Formats: sequence, structure tokens, C-alpha cells
Amino acid sequence: MLASHQQIVLASGNQGKIKEFQAMLADFSIVPQGEFNIDEVEETGCTFVENALLKARNAALHSQLPAIADDSGLVVDALGGAPGVISARYAGENASDEDNLLKLLDAISAVAEEQRSARFICVLVFVEHANDPCPVIAQGVWEGRIVSEPKGENGFGYDPVFWVEKYNCTSAQLSGELKNALSHRGKALRQLTQQLAKKAG
Ligand code: IMP
Repeated sequence: MLASHQQIVLASGNQGKIKEFQAMLADFSIVPQGEFNIDEVEETGCTFVENALLKARNAALHSQLPAIADDSGLVVDALGGAPGVISARYAGENASDEDNLLKLLDAISAVAEEQRSARFICVLVFVEHANDPCPVIAQGVWEGRIVSEPKGENGFGYDPVFWVEKYNCTSAQLSGELKNALSHRGKALRQLTQQLAKKAG
């Protein structure tokens, strides 16, 4: 059972994510792992779930507190699931968002429009302690397709080429609020919030 105001370590140093998690999980106290000087763990898994678990267990181990971690990325069917778990470093270890996007456009240049189905995935994992045998796992999926011409200034990463059929635009052309309502991350976060509320009784 989780106590109200329980401290939970977030295995991320991203300010946007920290704010987003604190807002959604208002019953708990979200503490970024940087406050415990926890180093990022190497993401050696070949699935989003494995990587999120690695990060959550590492944060729990070094803080001795419950922990939450996320892992997300873009899965393109015509590329056998690439860039997948290496979405952030598709074009190399220190690649920028633009490098990754250009590599993606190059990789799908020969793929017909109707075969460019893709989805963003976000997995969130909560562990009560480093060896927790029953982690809480939430997964959000956002379906779309990849377009050749980048459009829009909002968002980050692959947003300018991720086409959202229902709104007839890329995810970089959506407001932050609408993106949160539709996105893989928003869906996963709402799922996790519900599951943790149950744990808190
Ligand atoms: P992270 O695990 O949340 O840091 O994301 C991994 C990578 O997946 C990011 O660096 C982006 O390349 C890609 N990605 C994840 N979510 C999104 C999104 O909402 N829009 C665009 N790219 C994303």
C-alpha cells in the first residue's frame, strides 16, 4: 500500500517530465533522481519495457525509495520497428533531433506513402523497491504515419514528420494541450495514475 505524499523518485532529469509527473501524481511527492546524485543507467534492453525497468530499478536501488521511469520512441513498420528503442540516438550517440529525423527520412524515402504506418510508444514503470517482482507497467500507443516533408514548430524529436490523420496535420502542428490528450505519453501517464491510485487504496 502506498502512503499519500509518499516520495517517489523519477528516473529523469527532464524538467518538462518532472512537472508533468508531479501535476498528474499530485498525491505523491515526485523527486528527480538528480537530487540523489543518481547516474543514468545504460539502456541495454531491446524493448521499451526492459529499458524503463532498468531505469526504475536503478533509481530505486540508489535512493532506497519507490521509483518511476519511462522509455519511449517511434516504431516504423516498414523499417522493421526502427528506430524503436534507439529513437533518441538513431543517427549516433550524440545525434540531434534533426540528425535523427533526417536519417529517418532517408531510410523511408523509397517506401510508398500507404506503407508508412508508425506509432509512438511510451512505457512507464513503477517499482516499490529495486527488486520488486510485480512492477506496475503502463503503455501508451499513438498511431500515425511518416510524411516526407517536415511541418510544424511545436514538440520535439520526430513530431514534424508524424502525421495525425484525425487532425490532418503533424504532431508538431498540434498545441501542447491537444498533443497531451492524444499522445502515447499522455495515455501512459493517465493509465499509471489510475493504477497507482488503486495501490494507494
Ligand atoms: P525519451 O525516452 O522520452 O527520452 O524519448 C526517446 C526518443 O523518442 C526521443 O528522443 C524522440 O526522438 C522520440 N520521441 C519520444 N516521444 C516523442 C514525441 O512525443 N515526439 C517526438 N519524438 C518522440
